[in-house]
Amino acid sequence: MAVYLDDVSRTFGEYLLIPGLTTKECLPGNVSLQTPLVKHRTGEKSQIELNIPFVSAIMQAVSDDGLAIELARNGGLSFIFGSQPIATQAEMVRKVKKFKAGFVVSDSNLKPDNTLADVLALVKRTGHSTIGVTEDGTPNGKLLGMVTSRDYREGKDDHNTLVKEFMTPFSKLVTGQLGITLSECNNIIWDHKLNTLPIIDKNQNLQYFVFRKDYDSHHENPYELSDPVDKKLLVGAGINSRDYKDRVPALIDAGVDVLCIDSSDGYSEWQSDTLRWIKENYGDKVKVGAGNVVDAEGFNYLVEAGADFIKVGIGGGSICITREQKGIGRGQATAIIDVAKARDEYAAKTGYYVPICSDGGLVHDYHMVLALAMGADFLMMGRYFARFDESPSKRLRIGNNYVKEYWGEGSNRAQNWQRYDMGGSESLKFEEGVDSYVPYAGKMKDNLAITLGKIKSTMCSCGTITIKQLQCNAKITLVSSTSIVEGGAHDVILKEQN
Ligand code: IMP
Repeated sequence: MAVYLDDVSRTFGEYLLIPGLTTKECLPGNVSLQTPLVKHRTGEKSQIELNIPFVSAIMQAVSDDGLAIELARNGGLSFIFGSQPIATQAEMVRKVKKFKAGFVVSDSNLKPDNTLADVLALVKRTGHSTIGVTEDGTPNGKLLGMVTSRDYREGKDDHNTLVKEFMTPFSKLVTGQLGITLSECNNIIWDHKLNTLPIIDKNQNLQYFVFRKDYDSHHENPYELSDPVDKKLLVGAGINSRDYKDRVPALIDAGVDVLCIDSSDGYSEWQSDTLRWIKENYGDKVKVGAGNVVDAEGFNYLVEAGADFIKVGIGGGSICITREQKGIGRGQATAIIDVAKARDEYAAKTGYYVPICSDGGLVHDYHMVLALAMGADFLMMGRYFARFDESPSKRLRIGNNYVKEYWGEGSNRAQNWQRYDMGGSESLKFEEGVDSYVPYAGKMKDNLAITLGKIKSTMCSCGTITIKQLQCNAKITLVSSTSIVEGGAHDVILKEQN
């Protein structure tokens, strides 16, 4: 006979937190959101700790190098999407590792023989008015000059004029040598009243630009998630259980800090094989998460196979139709509660703590606190991050609203057959995700400030200032459908919102 579980499959919207005693030390400024990312001995620190409990989903519409840089600068971590060729994924990892705050690789470059018309077209395309003139027109070619909007008059000058005739030539440029620190750059910028300082190597090849306008930005990231030794930002990458023998070495070579096997159903021998291969070949040097699972059995199976963290969630993602298509899944809250219990039992039995990640279905900011309170160590989100400027997808205007595109990895658009693969052929037989829009929400940093502010405030109401305390002390109650209605504005006539 089939096994019937006694508990109902529930999700976050069915629960509320009951306040605990807010002591005087419970101030948002005292709250730490640090949390372990990978397996460690109980009582010891995890080798990688996030400064905020957020990671971005392993999805084409979410996690490229641009979003990864911004999220790491704000204390979280991205897993660069794996549904792309190995070389391009490794290149994205490399770009994150090469990132140095304030040092920008020039995206607008021309050769001396280009024309003013080329300059105007480039400015229009990139929106950037500073152009590096290099011998071969590449971002790292020999620097021969620079062009800014002060070098030409669009309405008066002949558009056929060659760049070399109006650029500021190298002999007149103030430059910095590779290896210079950002504060040294800023001193030169101030002393010479510059807007831009090109940084060159000993062969005069352009390496970076440092802009006056970025002067303050590197002071604004107190939570930055970087390697304590080389100061490079941390970055993760998604892998699959098919081409891992080629993909994993390439990602490690690119400098990836942590991997995650990405599958809609991770309770499989393919994941176990992948984990064992990585651990046999790299030992504990390479950290790798696995999933997704929704119960204790799945958790224990992948932990035994060597996983460093476990991702929890099937069918709850905003773009996900797995439950409708295949009839598998579990309410996200119930899944987290069950797997968190298994994690704690495993820790008590073995002395090893394996962090768990709640993946998908977090809609409101308070859902995030609930997920943490129920035992999640960190949260993976797709829809949340897809809405920001930094996500790779297109921003469009629909009616009076701006939206961004957001599509599932199981949609025909993503063609990520490895994630939904059951060991068969290289194609998707049916879709498990949709192609959609999400409301555009602006800069990640501004949104994080609000979300994290709410999380800290709720934690203080619960009388807790760390995630561990929240997990141990939170009081959680189920709510009736009638009391859910009571939770929103009700029995008033809302004024028009402009
Ligand atoms: P969201 O934060 O609710 O948008 O959920 C994001 C999560 O949905 C991802 O991290 C994946 O686990 C999952 N996911 C991504 N693409 C698909 C899909 O096409 N079908 C089902 N689940 C998906």
